[in-house]
Amino acid sequence: MYTSVNRGTFLFHFIWFSLALIIVTYTSGFQPVLGEGFTDNEECYVCHSNTNLEMAFPSGEVISIFVDRDEYESSVHGEQGMACITCHAGTTEYPHQPRTELNYRDYSLDLYAICTRCHTEQIAEIRNNVHMVALAAGNPNAAVCTDCHGTHNILCVSEAITPMNRTCGTCHGEINELYELSVHGAALIGDGNPDVPSCTDCHGSHEIIGPSNYPFHLFSPQICGDCHSDRDLMESYGINPNVMDSYVSDFHGKTVIIFETVASDQETNKPVCIDCHGVHDMLSPEDSHSSVLKENLLVTCQKCHPDASANFPDSWLSHYNPGPDQIRPVFYVKVIYWILIPLLVGAMALYVVSDFVRQWLKLKGEMKDV
Ligand code: HEC
Ligand code: HEC
Ligand code: HEC
Ligand code: HEC
Ligand code: HEC
Ligand code: HEC
Ligand code: HEC
Ligand code: HEC
Ligand code: HEC
Repeated sequence: MYTSVNRGTFLFHFIWFSLALIIVTYTSGFQPVLGEGFTDNEECYVCHSNTNLEMAFPSGEVISIFVDRDEYESSVHGEQGMACITCHAGTTEYPHQPRTELNYRDYSLDLYAICTRCHTEQIAEIRNNVHMVALAAGNPNAAVCTDCHGTHNILCVSEAITPMNRTCGTCHGEINELYELSVHGAALIGDGNPDVPSCTDCHGSHEIIGPSNYPFHLFSPQICGDCHSDRDLMESYGINPNVMDSYVSDFHGKTVIIFETVASDQETNKPVCIDCHGVHDMLSPEDSHSSVLKENLLVTCQKCHPDASANFPDSWLSHYNPGPDQIRPVFYVKVIYWILIPLLVGAMALYVVSDFVRQWLKLKGEMKDV
């Protein structure tokens, strides 16, 4: 039901359309004929290249129904010469088949289904993602195909001009603001650096995962580890490539890995990377706002160790593995243990074995009591 279908607007459309028809008929070979079915895109442009043409919904929303010819013709679908009516089967005549949506969002949610006719693989991928679940639960603002890709201006994904985080940011504005200020986002937006993660590297693009449908918090160290354990990549930025190794070998990380392997359905109370570094707002440890800067570290530990005092963070080795050139005292204590423990255990074993041999020989009577 459109409010545009009142007599005044109809008369306006009729006069306007008749004029357009006459002009088009005389200036080109096309002859759109009312009631006979439009098939050619040119017939649609007769009306839809008018930048003033609008459509109103019962909700009171009014949208432009102008279609930019250049934009469409340079889109992936336009380049293939796809006819408008391939997607808009109900518009081959004017007046078009009436629509029943009460507002613009409902209209978009009905029309995105068009995409799924051809792109069956992608619809299968998005089926159970966070947005589809939110949509099914009654949240109409969750993302569908056209929210991320556009409509008549769809480009090949490798040629898309808008960085994907900004597309996500149209709805996730606050998160995107934090992200663009983070060490990763600043590198992506500032330098176009392709090595840093964008939203889709961590959440996926079609099979989008988040805390509500995946033990995301628990498994998030694996996401970081993909890049931060890549020695060549990290060394090219002068960043410590052992952060994952050192995390896994310390008391916090060890427990997290055990949870991941044997109790992945349970949340752990031990910190994962983002509990110390922040999620979308992580900064370089040298930044004065960084949650892991020495001056700010105590507050970060106190989230879980409320009684921690000023020197508490020193009880922990951070990302450093003790070695001859860093954290030497711990390294030497470890070395002493490495020598002492085999020595002690070895001596014990020797004692037990020799005692056994002695008892055995005694039994056989080959040895006199001493
Ligand atoms: C006579 C002018 C005219 C022609 C020709 C025309 N349209 Fe429309 N179209 C309109 C007007 C006016 C509306 C606004 C809604 C209404 O009044 O029906 C509209 C609405 C639409 C809509 C939005 C509503 C819906 O049904 O989804 C689409 C899509 C559309 N037209 C596509 C097309 C296509 C595709 C063609 C060519 C095959 C075409 N139109 C030809 C005038 C025209
Ligand atoms: C690949 C499929 C596809 C093709 C091809 C296509 N459209 Fe659309 N069109 C859509 C979808 C999807 C929407 C709904 C967009 C939204 O949510 O706003 C739409 C919306 C519209 C609207 C309503 C206004 C708007 O932008 O939402 C008009 C008018 C329209 N199309 C006209 C055309 C014309 C004219 C052509 C050919 C030049 C064309 N379309 C080609 C998919 C297509
Ligand atoms: C009639 C079939 C058809 C419909 C309907 C259709 N597409 Fe396409 N789409 C194609 C074809 C064909 C291509 C170009 C070949 C390819 O790359 O897969 C394409 C390409 C694309 C690409 C670029 C793929 C790449 O490799 O980068 C995107 C993105 C896309 N379509 C999204 C959509 C969206 C969103 C809709 C709904 C508005 C839609 N398509 C509707 C057939 C269709
Ligand atoms: C939340 C945003 C989002 C939604 C919703 C979305 N896409 Fe995509 N789509 C992307 C991103 C990002 C890529 C690029 C993937 C990559 O490079 O890994 C992509 C890639 C594609 C491609 C290129 C081929 C491929 O699979 O990589 C096609 C075609 C496509 N999408 C169609 C669709 C269709 C059809 C829908 C709806 C059923 C849809 N997309 C829904 C974000 C989205
Ligand atoms: C480096 C990986 C990474 C990047 C990049 C990233 N995220 Fe996240 N995101 C996460 C993690 C991990 C969580 C889970 C946080 C938790 O469990 O406390 C999360 C949670 C979320 C949530 C749900 C919880 C909330 O805070 O509302 C949304 C929505 C989200 N991210 C959207 C985005 C968007 C949009 C972008 C891009 C602007 C983005 N993310 C970039 C890792 C990332
Ligand atoms: C059209 C708006 C829109 C766009 C565009 C959009 N989202 Fe969302 N997203 C939503 C809504 C709505 C929710 C559900 C929020 C809720 O239930 O709290 C959501 C939820 C999420 C969640 C949270 C899931 C959870 O487990 O809590 C993540 C992660 C997410 N989106 C990632 C993305 C990413 C990545 C992109 C870009 C590729 C993106 N979104 C684009 C609207 C959007
Ligand atoms: C796609 C690869 C990738 C992923 C995934 C990734 N990072 Fe990064 N990260 C980088 C790169 C590359 C840099 C260096 C950026 C620069 O300096 O311009 C960086 C920088 C950093 C820095 C700043 C280091 C410094 O000294 O400046 C921190 C902290 C960081 N990442 C933590 C994380 C955490 C925590 C995660 C997981 C939630 C994560 N990263 C996921 C690639 C990644
Ligand atoms: C208990 C808190 C804590 C946890 C958990 C933690 N970090 Fe850190 N991280 C720090 C502190 C403190 C620093 C700064 C001092 C340093 O460089 O060791 C740091 C530094 C870093 C740096 C910068 C190193 C450099 O050379 O500049 C990166 C990258 C990093 N962490 C990534 C990670 C990743 C990935 C994880 C998870 C696998 C993780 N962190 C887990 C506290 C933590
Ligand atoms: C997300 C919560 C969380 C954060 C953040 C956190 N820890 Fe822990 N940490 C724990 C838990 C839980 C234990 C195990 C406590 C137990 O078993 O008694 C633990 C154990 C420890 C232990 C072993 C000794 C003890 O008290 O049992 C040290 C040392 C420690 N953490 C240091 C730190 C430091 C330093 C920071 C800050 C850089 C930090 N932690 C941040 C949760 C956290």
